[in-house]
Amino acid sequence: MAWRLREWAGINLAGWYDQIYHPDFILDRKDTMKIRPFQIERFFARYEFNAPYLLSSSDCEALTIQGLLSMEEGAAEQFQQHWLGYTESQGSPELRQAITTQYQSISIEQILVHAGAEEAIFTFMNAVLEKNDHIIVHFPCYQSLFEIANAIGCEVTLWETHAEDGWELDLESLQHSIKANTRAIIVNCPHNPTGYLMSKAKQQQIIEIAREHQCIIFSDEVYRGLEQNQDETLPAACDLYEHAVSLGVMSKTFGLPGLRIGWIATRDPQIYASMAAFKDYLTICNSAPSEFLATVALHNASTIIARNKAIIEENMRLLTTFFAAYSHLFSWVAPRAGSIAFPRIQFEQDIEHFCTDLVQKQGVLLLPGTCYNFGHQHFRIGFGRKNMPECLMRLEDYIKVVKGSYSWFGGERIAGEDHDKIDQLIGSHAGASNADAPLDDSKDAPFGSTPEQRLRFLPSNLVLMVATLGWSGR
Ligand SMILES: Cc1ncc(COP(=O)(O)O)c(C=O)c1O
Repeated sequence: MAWRLREWAGINLAGWYDQIYHPDFILDRKDTMKIRPFQIERFFARYEFNAPYLLSSSDCEALTIQGLLSMEEGAAEQFQQHWLGYTESQGSPELRQAITTQYQSISIEQILVHAGAEEAIFTFMNAVLEKNDHIIVHFPCYQSLFEIANAIGCEVTLWETHAEDGWELDLESLQHSIKANTRAIIVNCPHNPTGYLMSKAKQQQIIEIAREHQCIIFSDEVYRGLEQNQDETLPAACDLYEHAVSLGVMSKTFGLPGLRIGWIATRDPQIYASMAAFKDYLTICNSAPSEFLATVALHNASTIIARNKAIIEENMRLLTTFFAAYSHLFSWVAPRAGSIAFPRIQFEQDIEHFCTDLVQKQGVLLLPGTCYNFGHQHFRIGFGRKNMPECLMRLEDYIKVVKGSYSWFGGERIAGEDHDKIDQLIGSHAGASNADAPLDDSKDAPFGSTPEQRLRFLPSNLVLMVATLGWSGR
């Protein structure tokens, strides 16, 4: 495999990576290590920057600085002149002004800018929650939405959702979970990892429950704007409820994670003040160049979001065909919003083994659901990037070969999982027409059955070699 060139060249770092990224390798100091490792990040740290086909990224296609600056007349010149002193710790007034356009009732004093959404989650939990507070968290979820509270000593109830119910949030279960010490309800819509989007009516009911029990709502809205049906876009929670905190970021909907600019919007002055005071011990203020660039992006929000939604729409069309063609192998609840989904394998294999084998043999990175502490069958797939069709093609190549190689697919199992043999099969299969494929799966060819159609998706090995030698894309 081309991406194994580094190993062939003697730069075999796999052992080193296996060691330093293994959760058990981290010092487990009871008095100092108060928070459990972030499993998604640990898994990505192992593979994200050396796997060539990233099929589980949650962000949309990024832009270059040049591409972004070209969207606004004079922005490139202004950027050159931009002052590199400290900025206001709440965020520059220009940026906060631009952020308010995402809301109906929020003024610039109610926006607190952070280094990414992640810092804002950390700040909120530390500044607002205390030991023995109870929180209820939409689950499965982005780990920091419950893990930081857990580390503080909060009592955490996971508000579980299931694929069988279309990942629907159950209000009765929410009502039953509320206790006298419930301080906050944590929701995330559009949802990571399922692509679930609650209805406006349900959002309103959650707010009513929170108001009745005097709970804060922490609403992670980092994928807001990526709804497949624009009419279903939810109002920001901070516009509907006086004790809500809405979380936003440049990383996902805007596809600009490298800026590391996130924010919270809230009309609750006490929450705002507490978070601002806590942030003084973190980044203090934000990166001045990033604030400038984020402001330009927000001025051009509709153009950037329309571009990203067009990529998602095209990718969703392919994924729908793919999951229909391989429904005997995978099931999924089609996402309604966002750039990720959480399908399930239908065969008996541990999802971690499936994902690890896939990335090691075929260079395709999926994220196992074990990183979400959510069983051993689900995986996260991402579709916000332009090269998703090519990544999906490589996944298809893998499953078509492995499908014929393992007994649970009805084929002949290769003794002892002979990796060289599988590599050989994958190698001979990749780029071949279906007529040449080792399996007769002509019905499973949503990406074309002629060499011309399939070649459309396949980079030449040369391009692949060059790309993987210097690979560094997220
Ligand atoms: C639901 C959710 N919240 C917060 C974050 C953190 O965003 P950032 O990495 O931009 O800080 C992520 C990132 O994946 C996310 O998916």
